[in-house]
Amino acid sequence: MDGITFGRASLLCTLLLWAFQVCSGAVTVKVDPKVEVLKGDPAQLPCTYTVSPSSSSTIVEWYIEEQGTRKRVAFRPHGGEGKSDDGTPLTGRVTIGEDFTLTISSVKPSDELAFYCQVTAGPAGVGDAATMLKVFFAPEKPELTKPSSQAIYAGQSTSSEIGTCVTMNGHPQPRIIWYKDDLPIAEVKDRKEKTYMIPSVVKEASGLFTIKSTLYSQPTKADKDSVFHCVVEYSMPGEQIKQKKSDTITINLNYPSEKATFSLLNTSPVKEGDNVTMKCETDGNPQPEFDFTKDGNAIPGQAGLLTLKSVKRTDAGQYKCMATDFDNLEADLSGTINLAVHYIDPVNVTPVEPQVVMLGDKVEWQCKTKASDNHIVHWKKGSKVLSQDGTLSIEGVSYENAGEYMCVGAVPSVPDLTAQASVNLTVKGKPMIETPAVGEVGKEGDMVTLKCSAFGFPIPQFEWKPSGKESVSVEGNKAVSTVTLQATPEVMKDGVTCQASNSDGTDSKTFLITRKRAIDNSAEVLLSGNPVLKSADKQQGGSSGVVIAVVVCVLLLLLLVALIYFLSKKSKLPCSKKDKKEVATGEVNNDIVVEMKTDKSNEEAGLLNKKTHTEQ
Ligand SMILES: *[C@@H]1O[C@H](CO)[C@@H](O)[C@H](O)[C@H]1NC(C)=O
Ligand SMILES: *[C@@H]1O[C@H](CO)[C@@H](O)[C@H](O)[C@H]1NC(C)=O
Repeated sequence: MDGITFGRASLLCTLLLWAFQVCSGAVTVKVDPKVEVLKGDPAQLPCTYTVSPSSSSTIVEWYIEEQGTRKRVAFRPHGGEGKSDDGTPLTGRVTIGEDFTLTISSVKPSDELAFYCQVTAGPAGVGDAATMLKVFFAPEKPELTKPSSQAIYAGQSTSSEIGTCVTMNGHPQPRIIWYKDDLPIAEVKDRKEKTYMIPSVVKEASGLFTIKSTLYSQPTKADKDSVFHCVVEYSMPGEQIKQKKSDTITINLNYPSEKATFSLLNTSPVKEGDNVTMKCETDGNPQPEFDFTKDGNAIPGQAGLLTLKSVKRTDAGQYKCMATDFDNLEADLSGTINLAVHYIDPVNVTPVEPQVVMLGDKVEWQCKTKASDNHIVHWKKGSKVLSQDGTLSIEGVSYENAGEYMCVGAVPSVPDLTAQASVNLTVKGKPMIETPAVGEVGKEGDMVTLKCSAFGFPIPQFEWKPSGKESVSVEGNKAVSTVTLQATPEVMKDGVTCQASNSDGTDSKTFLITRKRAIDNSAEVLLSGNPVLKSADKQQGGSSGVVIAVVVCVLLLLLLVALIYFLSKKSKLPCSKKDKKEVATGEVNNDIVVEMKTDKSNEEAGLLNKKTHTEQ
């Protein structure tokens, strides 16, 4: 080999070696480019690699990059033990697994870094790949506060603070959006604008962000009822954008009054005795002081309210309220109310004295009143309306006409405005007994109580014949006498006489005394099916006359039936067969079947039964 040859050979060799190194020294490392995790949760950063040619002396190392320099946090040689490094921000929280996955036990916001998985494989060389660790934490609900300084004046040329919105502890840094009446306000930082926001960010020791935004604006009167709120917008794993909303605030806006309104708060027409409330207010804020006058004379009110208790007709008149707004001295801030107070005078009835008239005579009253509006007068007795024109006239007075009459005055246009007065009519005349004159006793010798009621004035005196235990009471326009006496045979026969008399005359009635339910008893006896014996038994207590009459009737009917039967047999009536059938069906209901047999006694018994049942 000459020098040239050697030189060529060595050059070739060098080239080959270089080529070998470049082409065969391949270390390929694979990681997840991004790993997202919530603060406090564990994070897993996987790392896999391929090496060619395969090397037995590979080592996997995880690095973090802080301020441009890499720092190792953990490593694991091929087939060896995994170890974490001391003195790193992750010391104590990090492990490397057999598959070279880096596990961080509890992630902090400061762990949001680039993590490098680096593989060194001897002659095959070195390779690495980076994972970005992203840490998330939802901020708290934003707190919205109003400035401590008082009111904001509408139409000022400088902007005033509307409110401050603070949201604590978010990661990554969230943002605040302002809303006015549910519409977002464009974000403006230029303090020369009318509306702008001043933001600030604080990074807490925990690594979380607390952000704040103060809104400034120049509100006009149109904003007096505007509602403001703020929203914090933040991101969460998986590209999610979420929001939390604050409570709302309104602004305490001051603006001048331009006009005043004075209104009556009573909803129905005002009448005497009512409480009246009138309210004065302006369209400004705050409300100015008010002064009130009635027909030009000052009267006291309370703030914007003027209250009159239990008004009288003299309280009617012109009421005025006046206000002065020092921010708008030209404005006429006054209002008037012409208050009407309705009334009705007590009704005046003539004649006033109680009227006593003779039965059949005529009586007349007049009723009058005065009121603030069209009014009506009614005469009534009880609930019955007798006259609508103020005159009550009764001709041919009867006892039923006696009693209390009422005149009611009312103003239809004003609810509940009424007045009333009553008069009494007494009807003078001879007594008139109106009771139905009957009495009942269980049996002769019993005590009987009778009531005799009589119209008449002067109040009648009573006399009973025969007399008994008596008492008298007055019920409305009647006098009632009650007597209790024994139903002696004379009383049963002749009755009891009640006589009522006064200075104008006398009336009398005789009460007939009967036995209680006597007729019913005898009827029951007949119906029970054993006629003669039982009714005879009961005749002592019951009415013997009735029972005798019924028995006689039954016997007469029996005779009549027997006669017809006899005649039909004698003349051999062809209908006898048919009759038999009809009778048979007709009797089924009574459980007695009448057979037309020759046996006469049977036949009679059957007919007797039939008769008794038919009388039911
Ligand atoms: C008027 O007000 C007084 C006290 O405030 C009250 O006792 C009275 O019932 C009121 N009268 C009417 C008619 O509402
Ligand atoms: C009318 O009579 C009644 C009862 O008899 C009495 O209560 C009332 O006060 C009397 N009215 C007048 C107006 O006299």
